[in-house]
Amino acid sequence: MRLLVALVSSMDNPEIPFWERPEIVEQFAARPPDQRMMELLGDASRATRVLDLGCAGGRNTEWLAREGFDFYALDDSRAMLEKTRSRVEPYVGKADAGHRVVEGRMDNLSVFDRDFFDLIICFGVYHAAQSLEEWHCAIAESARILKPAAQLLMTQFSPRSDPTGQGLQRIEPHLFTGFRDERRMLLLEPDELDAWMAPYGFTPVRPTYDTTAPADEGGTRVVVNALYQKNG
Ligand SMILES: C[S@@+](CC[C@H](N)C(=O)[O-])C[C@H]1O[C@@H](n2cnc3c(N)ncnc32)[C@H](O)[C@@H]1O
Repeated sequence: MRLLVALVSSMDNPEIPFWERPEIVEQFAARPPDQRMMELLGDASRATRVLDLGCAGGRNTEWLAREGFDFYALDDSRAMLEKTRSRVEPYVGKADAGHRVVEGRMDNLSVFDRDFFDLIICFGVYHAAQSLEEWHCAIAESARILKPAAQLLMTQFSPRSDPTGQGLQRIEPHLFTGFRDERRMLLLEPDELDAWMAPYGFTPVRPTYDTTAPADEGGTRVVVNALYQKNG
C-alpha cells in the first residue's frame, strides 16, 4: 500500500528527480541480472572484488552478493541505494550492506582507494555525464580504483539511438537530449569510445560492438558494449 501511494504521488509530481522516482526504482529493480556479467564471472574466484558502478535497483549487486563475490555498489540516488541495500542484506547483514552499498558520484570515487578493484561493471551510467569534463573525470576515477590488469565491463548509448522515434537533439558535440530522463546524455560510437578510453590506460579485451534494443520510451536504443583491461 505504501509503495502504491508513493508510486501515485511520484507520477503526480514531476519535481522528483528521475532516478528517485519509486516507479523507476521498481522498473530497474525488476530486470534480470546482466548476462554479460554472469558470463564473465561464472568461473571467476569468489574473492574477485567487484564494483557495481551506478547500481540502480540492485539487480546485479544482488547477484554478486548471492554468488559470494567481494562486492561493492555505488549510486547517487538514495532511492536506488535503499532498494539495493534491502536486496543484499539477506546475504551480508544490515551493517555490511550499509558499508558495501554507498552513495557517491561516478566522477568522485574518493571513498575507494587506488588499485582496489579487480572488476568494475558499469551499465548505462557513464553516458549520464552532463559534460565532457564529467565523463573524463568519471573514467579517470574508474581507472584509479582498478588494480593493474583489472577489467571494466560497460555499456553506454550510441548517438544512433532514437528512443522516441523523433530523433535526438544535439546540444553540443557528443551531448544530446531526447530520452525520458530529460537531462542531457553523452553519447559515443564504439570507435570513439575506444579512442576516448585509451588515454586512461584501457585496452579492449574483445572488439567493442553495438546492439539495438527496444527503448523504454517506445523507440530504439543503440547500446555500445565494451570490455576493457587496464594496462598492467
Ligand atoms: C540506467 S541506470 C543503471 C542501471 C544499472 N547499472 C543496471 O544494470 O541495472 C543509471 C543509474 O546511474 C545513476 N547515476 C546517474 N548519474 C550518476 C552519477 N553521476 N554518479 C553515480 N550514479 C549516477 C542513477 O541514479 C541510476 O541509478
